[in-house]
Amino acid sequence: MRFAQLTRQPDDPLLRIIGQHAADPRSDKIDLGVGVFRDEAGRTPVMTAVKAAEARLLSEQSTKSYLGPEGDVGFVRALAELVLGQVVPADRRVGLQTPGGTGALRLAAELLARAGVPRIWIGSPSWANHAPLFKQAGVEPALIPCYDLTSQHFDLDGFLAGLGGAAQGDAVLLHGCCHNPIGIDPDAQGWAAIAQHVADHALLPVVDLAYQGLGDGFDIDAAGARTILSAVPEALLAYSCDKNFGLYRERTGALFALSPDADTGAVVLSNLLALARANWSMPPDHGAAIVRIILEDAALTREWRDELEAMRQRLASLRAALAAGGRIGAIDLAAVAHGKGMFATLPLSPSQVAWLRDRHGIYMAGSGRINIAGFSTAAIARFHDALRDMVANEVA
Ligand code: LMR
Repeated sequence: MRFAQLTRQPDDPLLRIIGQHAADPRSDKIDLGVGVFRDEAGRTPVMTAVKAAEARLLSEQSTKSYLGPEGDVGFVRALAELVLGQVVPADRRVGLQTPGGTGALRLAAELLARAGVPRIWIGSPSWANHAPLFKQAGVEPALIPCYDLTSQHFDLDGFLAGLGGAAQGDAVLLHGCCHNPIGIDPDAQGWAAIAQHVADHALLPVVDLAYQGLGDGFDIDAAGARTILSAVPEALLAYSCDKNFGLYRERTGALFALSPDADTGAVVLSNLLALARANWSMPPDHGAAIVRIILEDAALTREWRDELEAMRQRLASLRAALAAGGRIGAIDLAAVAHGKGMFATLPLSPSQVAWLRDRHGIYMAGSGRINIAGFSTAAIARFHDALRDMVANEVA
């Protein structure tokens, strides 16, 4: 009896919040859990550019036949041009479509394992799925604590000092922008210093770019990734369209590899295609086809970029309103203004997180990570009040 050898695994703590929040009957509950964009009414709408592309797809698509393990090559080409066009010459990059950014990371991890990379260095805390994903693929995660939650600060020196422990050929994971879960990215000088270190020590960067357009602006959000990719002969870029096209459940992503020359690139791509085939055979089509239609049409691209910019501005103004709460007990909300994108992580204990949920119907990850898009303007005032209540009740 083989199954008897298995031990029960806990539910994913972040995904569990979706069900807990749904089951809560309180009408003023606040969902700051899983990272999806929400409008003021708490909806996660389908973007109008996506709807228009879907309508076109519905009328024009004449077959559902297989595409192959590389997925929609028009999507891959258009996305590569958009994100890497000005930086990486076409003959030094290869790419393929993946099921979401997670699929891209999984393929990256398996490629690293195949290439004999023993370890990946990850600034900590990181997205909760990063370390297990690489570990399961046989690449050992090495965590470098480098964020201070009280001051909402990224410790660049600490990160580089931690990276000093890496051996030549080790990989390093970098969040391209809108760090998940902290929301704090290196500044331009920080990116330059990281690029220099990575190049000097012959490390292999894996950039996870999942929130382009939700930080400072679409192009500037890729600046860090471009700085890294310009400095090294080899790199991987995992890209997600789930957030910036609002395609979450369509699982739309891509993995790009940068190689020193076209011949090496062809070998890398052949390995990625073989790994994809053994994992999911071929990626789902719908989301990638939508992104391709948008990117190949100037008017739809403009419409999408305008919608994305409005989303970005909503996040920035919610963040500013949250930060206006100032100091509440030990929590300096003003420091949250240093961050960008969907997330901030507050210095809250697990029991404070549980208390806020039970007493006030406020749902967030056990780590204290909040999805800022989950607020309405009114909910921010309630959140400030709830934190004051928590301090008044001396909840530790
Ligand atoms: C998140 O961090 O909330 C999202 O990236 C969703 C996920 O898969 O964890």
